[in-house]
Amino acid sequence: MRAAVYVCSACGGESPKWLGRCPVCQEWNSLSEESHAKRPGSSAPLGGTTTTRRLPLAEFASQAPMTRIATGIASLDRVLGGGLVSGMGVLIGGEPGIGKSTLLLQCAGALERGRKSILYASGEESGAQIALRARRLGIVAENLHLLCGNSLERILQAAEQQPPDILIVDSIQTLSSESIESAPGSLPQVRECAARLLEMSKRLGMPLILVGHVTKDGSLAGPKALEHLVDTVIYFEGDGNFTYRMLRTAKNRFGPAGELAVFEMAQSGLVAVENPSALFLAHRKGDAAGSVVFCSLEGSLPFLVEIQALVVGSSAGNARRWATGFDPVRSAMLLAVLEKRAGLSLANEDVFINVAGGVRLTEPAADLAVACAVASSLLNRPARSDTVALGEMGLVGEVRAIARAADRAREAHRLGFSRCLLPRANLVDFPRDLPLEAVGVSTISEAVESLL
Ligand code: TYD
Ligand code: MG
Repeated sequence: MRAAVYVCSACGGESPKWLGRCPVCQEWNSLSEESHAKRPGSSAPLGGTTTTRRLPLAEFASQAPMTRIATGIASLDRVLGGGLVSGMGVLIGGEPGIGKSTLLLQCAGALERGRKSILYASGEESGAQIALRARRLGIVAENLHLLCGNSLERILQAAEQQPPDILIVDSIQTLSSESIESAPGSLPQVRECAARLLEMSKRLGMPLILVGHVTKDGSLAGPKALEHLVDTVIYFEGDGNFTYRMLRTAKNRFGPAGELAVFEMAQSGLVAVENPSALFLAHRKGDAAGSVVFCSLEGSLPFLVEIQALVVGSSAGNARRWATGFDPVRSAMLLAVLEKRAGLSLANEDVFINVAGGVRLTEPAADLAVACAVASSLLNRPARSDTVALGEMGLVGEVRAIARAADRAREAHRLGFSRCLLPRANLVDFPRDLPLEAVGVSTISEAVESLL
C-alpha cells in the first residue's frame, strides 16, 4: 500500500496534506511530498527479543547477560560506557572531514586484533580508497571485510548470510532502500535504512555502528532524526583550525551520557590525548588581563582550559556581545549579573568571550571563570596566574555549589596550580590532604576581589 505524505525537511514532521508551514516545528516552506511504502514490520519496536505476553521483570533479567566487547581504543570504550554491547546501535555524528571514517577504520583494525570479524559497509568511498587509508594507518586486517555501494538491501543480505561480529555503516546518508522512492540522504530514506539495520542488529545480537553527517546549518537529514532510534549517540566535535577532536556522548542506554574523550589528528590517524590540560594551556600567557583558568569535568575526564575575555569601549550605539565555546545566552546573563551585582559598568562596552583552543564548554560550573575573565579585562587587572576559578553563578550574584570540586582541584594541582577559587558551599567536603589553597567565595564581588 502506498500513501503520499508530506514530510518536513527540518524536523521530519509529517502531514497528510501540503501546507505552507510545518505543523510540528513551524518552519516555512519545508514540506515536500514523499511516497511512503508501508511494509509490514517496518514499525516494529526495536529492543531485542520482544514478546507480547506479560512476564515478571525477573524473567527478563536472566535473559540478557551484558557482555562488553572492547574496541581496543581505550578512549572510545570509555565514551561508549565500557565497550560495545551485543545488539547495540551506535550513531557517530559529526561534520564531514572531522575524522569519523578514520576513527572507525582504526576501530576496525583494533577490533580485528581482538579476533573479531568486521563488515565495513561504505557508501562514500571505494574499496581502493579505504585500502589506501588502511595502509596509511598501518592496518592489516584479515577479518575486516568491505562492502562498497549504496544499496541497503545488499548490506542486509550480506550481514544476514554471514553475520559479522560488528557491522559498521559509513554513512547512513548515502544508503538507499528500494522500498522508498525518495533520494538517498532524504529523511524518509535515512529513517527507513536506520530502522531496518537496527532491527537486524537487535535480532542477530550484532553491534551496529552508524556514521551520520551533520552540517553546521543542519541542512542534511540525519543524526537528529535518528537519535531516538539508536542506543548510543556520540558526536565528534572539533574546530577545523585545530588538530584535535572531541568525542562526546549525547545519549547512552548502556552507560553514562556526557562522557568525553580528546583525540589529536596526526599523520598516522587519530591519537588519544592523554593529557588534554597541557594541550589546552600550552599557549597561555599567565599575566594578561582577561584570562582565567577553569577546570572542566564532563563525564570522567577533567581538563583545564583558559577562558579569555576582551572588553573594549563600544563605538557603535549598541554594545556587541560575542561568545565562542560558551553559551551566548548564559554569557549575557553573566554580564547582567556583573553589571547589577558587582557594580561593573558594561553597558557601553563590547564584550568578547572565548574558550581558548576551540573547546566548547557546556557546564554552568564555568560561570565564575567567565565572569572573572570579563571583570579582569574591564578593570585591566590580570587574574592571579596560580589560581583556577570554579563555580556556578546565580542571578542575585551568589556563587553556587558545583559537582565534584575536589576532582577538579586535583587536576589543577597536577598541572602546577597552587590556589583554587571555589564556591563556599564546596569547602565542607574539600579534601584536607590536597596541597592546594582552597578559597571559598559566596558572591561574585568576593571572587573578583580574591582573584584580581
Ligand atoms: P575522514 O575520516 O575522512 O572524515 P569523515 O569521515 O568524518 O568525513 O577524515 C578526513 C580528514 O582527516 C582529512 O582531511 C584528512 C585527515 N587525516 C589525517 O590528517 N591523518 C590521517 O591519518 C587520516 C587518515 C586522515
Ligand atoms: Mg567519511
